[in-house]
Amino acid sequence: MSGTAPTKRLYIKTYGCQMNVYDSERMADVLSPLGYVATDSPEGADLVVLNTCHIREKATEKVYSELGKLREMKDARAAEDGAVMNIVVAGCVAQAEGEEIMRRQPAVDLVVGPQAYHQLPELIARTHRARGERLAADFAAEEKFDALPVERRPTGVTAFLTVQEGCDKFCTFCVVPYTRGGEWSRSPQTIEAEARGLAAQGVREVTLLGQNVNAYAGEGGLAALVRRLAEIPGLDRIRYTTSHPRDMDDSLIAAHAEVEALMPYLHLPVQSGSDKVLKAMNRAHTADSYLRLVEKIRAARPDIAMSGDFIVGFPGERDADFEATLQLVREVGYAAAFTFKYSRRPGTPAAAMPGQVAEAVKDERLARLNALLEDQQRAFNASQVGRTLPVLFERRGRHPGQLIGRSPYLQSVHVSAPDRLIGQIVPVRIEDAARMSLAGVLAETAELEPV
Ligand code: SAH
Ligand code: SF4
Ligand code: F3S
Repeated sequence: MSGTAPTKRLYIKTYGCQMNVYDSERMADVLSPLGYVATDSPEGADLVVLNTCHIREKATEKVYSELGKLREMKDARAAEDGAVMNIVVAGCVAQAEGEEIMRRQPAVDLVVGPQAYHQLPELIARTHRARGERLAADFAAEEKFDALPVERRPTGVTAFLTVQEGCDKFCTFCVVPYTRGGEWSRSPQTIEAEARGLAAQGVREVTLLGQNVNAYAGEGGLAALVRRLAEIPGLDRIRYTTSHPRDMDDSLIAAHAEVEALMPYLHLPVQSGSDKVLKAMNRAHTADSYLRLVEKIRAARPDIAMSGDFIVGFPGERDADFEATLQLVREVGYAAAFTFKYSRRPGTPAAAMPGQVAEAVKDERLARLNALLEDQQRAFNASQVGRTLPVLFERRGRHPGQLIGRSPYLQSVHVSAPDRLIGQIVPVRIEDAARMSLAGVLAETAELEPV
């Protein structure tokens, strides 16, 4: 008999933003020394982790319905062969409604907030022994990052890297300042070490993550961090998300003009084009200050692809306010966007505001906004046809002999190409464009256009 611990199966389901995607990867990392190996289905898993999102009501409901299904699975397994399937709820719902989860779904063994998952191994071990203390949602981000192993096992040629967490902005609709706590930044040294480790394992592109990533408070801010990481051999592409307009400073804009590795794509949520609504949202920018900011960014990097988040049906939003949002969208011209109907989150100031908008009105506005943004996305993609762009190939496509990669503007690009090009940045002549992707053929380096 060998002395190794028996393999246990771990299934993690991730909801919400990229911070959760990153956290899920790190949870798998911290659990691997205990013998947990990731599987892609909850069937037969020894440990199921739901890494949850609390941002909108729907996101939270999904968690409870998933938990209902898991409970049946757990009971069935216990009845069949006495096996224990542990269920853990992690992430932002865990932080926001820890005790309520335990009350509503007794099948849950453990609730662990976003700042406490480094303790998962110990907590899991404890649940095996006693079912006593099951909540662990109150720890500082600092402790978490100190406790995480530096080693990561990236699964591809691109990776997320959390550099900042939390939010001090308190937009009146949003739960994030409550679920993720205050703004906090990791040190440039630890970020660089993690990035070097990723590059050494073949990662060519990192996306720096933060709820307000451009509020990064390490020395020199996000611009200095980007410049520092751009020096790492092998790390050819850097992206970052999500940014707040009010933290988009001149040094970061200058980095877009000067740092070749910094990709020409910027997610800069505006939420609304109406100053009245923006004020009620506590966004600390106006439609005009946002437009001027975009102008400045485009002066530094004319080809930059802009992306944004929009909320329709915020309390008090009238037709004229919504028209102002459409007008702002027309003026900016977005390459990509995420749109949401306002969702009333208990405990946030906007939930108690007068003038809540009827669901049917929200639906109608959402459809109009989406139609406009989809046209813009199609137009942006179509404008790439005929160009030769550097594409980082990430994985095989659905058709035999096809690879999928990304353009500098974050578009998916489908190309007939051999597997050995995965992980390489290769010139591709773009021949076709749809709303969600581009198609092209391999080209010569000499054909690459300077941008
Ligand atoms: N910190 C980032 C992302 C926050 S969450 C930022 O400020 O941009 C991502 C998006 O979800 C937000 O930009 C917003 O558009 C949307 N969102 C947040 N709370 C919401 C709510 N209560 N209802 C509808 N959409 C919401
Ligand atoms: Fe939420 Fe606003 Fe903070 Fe973004 S900036 S996380 S929308 S409170
Ligand atoms: Fe959702 Fe939490 Fe991210 S609420 S959007 S998972 S920070």
